[in-house]
Amino acid sequence: MTLSETPVPASTPRTRAKARHILDNYFIGPARDASVLEIWGYTDRMTYAPGDRLALRVSTTAEHWDLEIGRDGARYEPLHSDTGIAGMHQVTPEDCSVAGCGWDVSYEFTIPDDWREGGYLVSMTAERDGDQVEEHHLFLLRRADDKPPAPYVLICATGTWLAYNCWGGSNHYEGITGPDRNAFSPVVSTQRPWTRGFCKLPEGAPRAVPDTPHKPGTMVRYPYMEWAYAYGYSKKYASAGWASYERHFAVWAEEQGFEFDFATQHDLEADPELLKRYKCAVFVGHDEYWSANMRDAVDRYTASGGRVARFGGNFLWQTRIEDEGRTQICYKYTAEQDPLVGSDQEHLVTTAWEVAPANRPGAQTFGVNGLKGVYTGLGRCVGQGSGGFTVYRPDHWALTGTQLGYGDQLGAASRIFGYEVDGVDYRMEDGLPFATGADGADPALEIVAMGLATNIEPTHGVWGETAYIADADAQFKARALFGEVTPETLDRSSRGNGAIVHWHRGEGEVFTAGTCEWVMGLTRRDWQVEQVTCNVLVRFGVSGRAR
Ligand SMILES: [Fe+2]
Repeated sequence: MTLSETPVPASTPRTRAKARHILDNYFIGPARDASVLEIWGYTDRMTYAPGDRLALRVSTTAEHWDLEIGRDGARYEPLHSDTGIAGMHQVTPEDCSVAGCGWDVSYEFTIPDDWREGGYLVSMTAERDGDQVEEHHLFLLRRADDKPPAPYVLICATGTWLAYNCWGGSNHYEGITGPDRNAFSPVVSTQRPWTRGFCKLPEGAPRAVPDTPHKPGTMVRYPYMEWAYAYGYSKKYASAGWASYERHFAVWAEEQGFEFDFATQHDLEADPELLKRYKCAVFVGHDEYWSANMRDAVDRYTASGGRVARFGGNFLWQTRIEDEGRTQICYKYTAEQDPLVGSDQEHLVTTAWEVAPANRPGAQTFGVNGLKGVYTGLGRCVGQGSGGFTVYRPDHWALTGTQLGYGDQLGAASRIFGYEVDGVDYRMEDGLPFATGADGADPALEIVAMGLATNIEPTHGVWGETAYIADADAQFKARALFGEVTPETLDRSSRGNGAIVHWHRGEGEVFTAGTCEWVMGLTRRDWQVEQVTCNVLVRFGVSGRAR
């Protein structure tokens, strides 16, 4: 060591204790320091059509940057690139997560007419003094209106992407808003980059549900948060985004030859009649946040004969979309602060669907809801569960060809059951679950398979461990369902389930496999999960009523 070098402080138990914990709030965002090499970008819209002008807003501290746009399908296809684009270091307001970045357009491009529908990855790279950074953005490309529609449309869960996007500091969970700069934001903007890991992830990035069940006697761990912290990705990368969820489905469906068009929930908000073009609408992954308009669009669609396949979980919060789609509102646990409280629009207050003044049970749309379900396979929350659904009605058409019998596990090998699941209120009779209808579900719906979930992470006193999920969710549920939090209501609010259900809704049909991780059954080639998915898509798409 030479004397001019500054010694690095040693890591001791005392100094380490001051370091941030993987469970703390940390976020991705601009350094606001020209000496730090960085590049970030976003587009005004989430969806484009061939022929549209795409305007990319990029901020970089490098003098020049390079761009590649490619279709992120079964095989990645690079389709457009440019190099040596002049860099601009743009001013990012402190409240960018809430009000948007307001950056100038740095690159414009007309999307060629022959680009196919799908997810398009925008890769931006910059170099300085031998150092290189690479960040990503993503947009969906829909079919041109003059092409015949695909039988299926995948509606990406952009309400949930936005809710979890930590870029700039704040999302619907944690944040830097409020007088102490430590509060979540009930208002989030689309006009900012997606956080690291939402658009592209390396192979092997851990899922929220670990690959193996929790080993008793060992400390509880959350490998995805450890990985995110270690490699500089968003703490929420495994919770939302194209790379963690929709992409897995899109790739599998393309490989199987199912013809899909692509849209976002925000497209549903702007164009409620969009679904009419398709025989079947598909929702996958972590799909937690919906506006009333988005729900209305799905309800009208099924009422008039549309088929809905939901291989996703956590249908919970009502949102509002404002400012022509640029702003999403969700007050959640602080819904009493929603400005619509006491107004003639009180039914649009952003709280859980089942709770006053929303009072619109989620089960009426999808047969299951988030309040009856929630954590499983996450940390100690059913951490020693099988990872699959228990089959109750093996003769249901959706299980044709799966070789599954009563009591068998569906998807345990591929760990599809978690990390948040949607449940149904049920009673058992002669070894079979029946919907009670108490939660708004149609009592005629069939429960094909089920598993257990919890709202409170148990602790077993293993030395050295810190649990992630305390009882905040159970407290909310206790207040919502029983009006008060007592040891008894907390206990009654702690238990949930995740279910696979099917029923006829109006002229249409709904199939829901209420779990975020269903897509892992496809990517991991769990043939029984693939068979169920095919059974549903074939019935809903091929034999579906022409629309
Ligand atoms: Fe969630």
